[in-house]
Amino acid sequence: MTLLESPLARHAGIAVPLVCGAMYPCSNLELVAAVSEAGGIGIVQPVTLAFVHKLALGDGLRRIRALTSKPIGMNALIEKSSRRYLERMRRWVDEALAEGVRFFVTSLGDPRWVADAAHAVGGVVYHDVTEAKWAAKGRDGGVDGLIAVNRDAGGHAGARDPRALLDELLPFGLPVVCAGGVGDAAGFVRALRMGYAGVQCGTRFIATPECDAAASYKAAILAAQAGDIVLSERITGVPLAVIDTPSIRRLGLHANALERWLLRNPRTKHAMRALLTVRSVWDLRRGARTDDSQLWQAGKSVAAIRSLEPAGEVVRTWAEAARAS
Ligand SMILES: Cc1cc2nc3c(=O)[nH]c(=O)nc-3n(C[C@H](O)[C@H](O)[C@H](O)COP(=O)(O)O)c2cc1C
Repeated sequence: MTLLESPLARHAGIAVPLVCGAMYPCSNLELVAAVSEAGGIGIVQPVTLAFVHKLALGDGLRRIRALTSKPIGMNALIEKSSRRYLERMRRWVDEALAEGVRFFVTSLGDPRWVADAAHAVGGVVYHDVTEAKWAAKGRDGGVDGLIAVNRDAGGHAGARDPRALLDELLPFGLPVVCAGGVGDAAGFVRALRMGYAGVQCGTRFIATPECDAAASYKAAILAAQAGDIVLSERITGVPLAVIDTPSIRRLGLHANALERWLLRNPRTKHAMRALLTVRSVWDLRRGARTDDSQLWQAGKSVAAIRSLEPAGEVVRTWAEAARAS
């Protein structure tokens, strides 16, 4: 048995337990399809499809289907923000199931309704978590696996290092996938050897020809060291990992006293996060897709990413390294 034959590979029906994580605004159709076609699994981010590519979910999924017949997944951010958003997410999950998607990655909130809907047709749900408290919520909500988002991750990073987080999550008895800090084949093999059931990467897959992010963003990832990654609270209200640039410095890293109070108060925190997020949806999109802005989300895996590589090539070379080890 090789390191590749993991519970994640069995659950998702894939050959290589490597996930191209959902990315707002970087999960374009060609990237998702390329990772799946090579044997990993690409995760569709429905908000990216709707707001960046102006595509109805069904149309986007059918376009991916024209590029690959292999399994793909979908991200369901299920935070209790507004009723309208949650209703839309419920429709997206139903549409994805109707189009044959059987792998879901949930983040935030109670994943029970996604798990019930997916299980009814033989699907599985993996839940993004940063600590045991959220893993317990995921397990109680019936999820099939956990995605351990560590302190090195791009996007909304956790606080623990990969080893400590794995030790904290293994007692739940579910497969645990490593998210954060993996940028090369050696890192992939190390995570599998440590006991992870797979790896979810974001930053590595931005630096590929298939990702439609701006050339300046990809170049910044190739040039950055781990020390260039900072956490900013000023974008979505929760620490977001970004490359340290003059634009980020101007924005500042910390919420001001009023923002902090509004973000802590249970009565205002959801509205405040929603407000910041509405602003950042636009800012992040501009940052990722034009060369004139420097709002670039990335994780510490930048340290191991030194060249643009086709996404399928990443999956194949990492799988080869795992087979050989
Ligand atoms: C640009 C960017 C956008 C992201 N957007 C999302 C998202 O919309 N939903 C989500 O669940 N995770 C999101 N993530 C997290 C990734 O899916 C993945 O867990 C993370 O990138 C792993 O860390 P790495 O970047 O070091 O590989 C994002 C990450 C990045 C870099």
